[in-house]
Amino acid sequence: MEQTNKYQRSIDRLNDALGKEISTTLQYIYFHTIFEDAGYEHLASLMRRISIQEMQHIEHIAERILFLQGKVDMNPSFRSVQINGVREALEFSCSLEQSTIESYNEYSRLCSGEDDAVTHRIFQDMSAEEEQHLDIFRTELQNMIDYGAQYLALQSVAHSRNVAKMSKKEE
Ligand SMILES: [Fe+2]
Ligand SMILES: [Fe+2]
Repeated sequence: MEQTNKYQRSIDRLNDALGKEISTTLQYIYFHTIFEDAGYEHLASLMRRISIQEMQHIEHIAERILFLQGKVDMNPSFRSVQINGVREALEFSCSLEQSTIESYNEYSRLCSGEDDAVTHRIFQDMSAEEEQHLDIFRTELQNMIDYGAQYLALQSVAHSRNVAKMSKKEE
């Protein structure tokens, strides 16, 4: 008979988080490519940077599962959504971060109650980072709501300037 792992509940929570992080990484890299294609340079690089941070969460979580001698379930928890509008993308990103923060707060609390201090801290630290992401997305969303077309136009101007600079360097 297979022995039960006393950290199994932590492992299940970590695998659940792993699925969220994989999906979120893919969703943000999707937004990155869409925004880059549209010439929204600032938003594109922001999405790329946050996507990489979510990928680092994947690595961190998987390492913890292995340390607890659990099995890593490296699968996305949902399929990427094909949203192309900036406002909708930012709203969706905010809701992703919001629900992740709620889960991690809960997981952190549960792990602490089960004397798994390290997993508790991992969820606590990740939840702090997700709050930073939420803050960034909220600011961008507010700019988008307040300045709309102007906000996007400014990004395109910055993009054209950079392209102009790049082609100058190549001459
Ligand atoms: Fe994350
Ligand atoms: Fe995040």
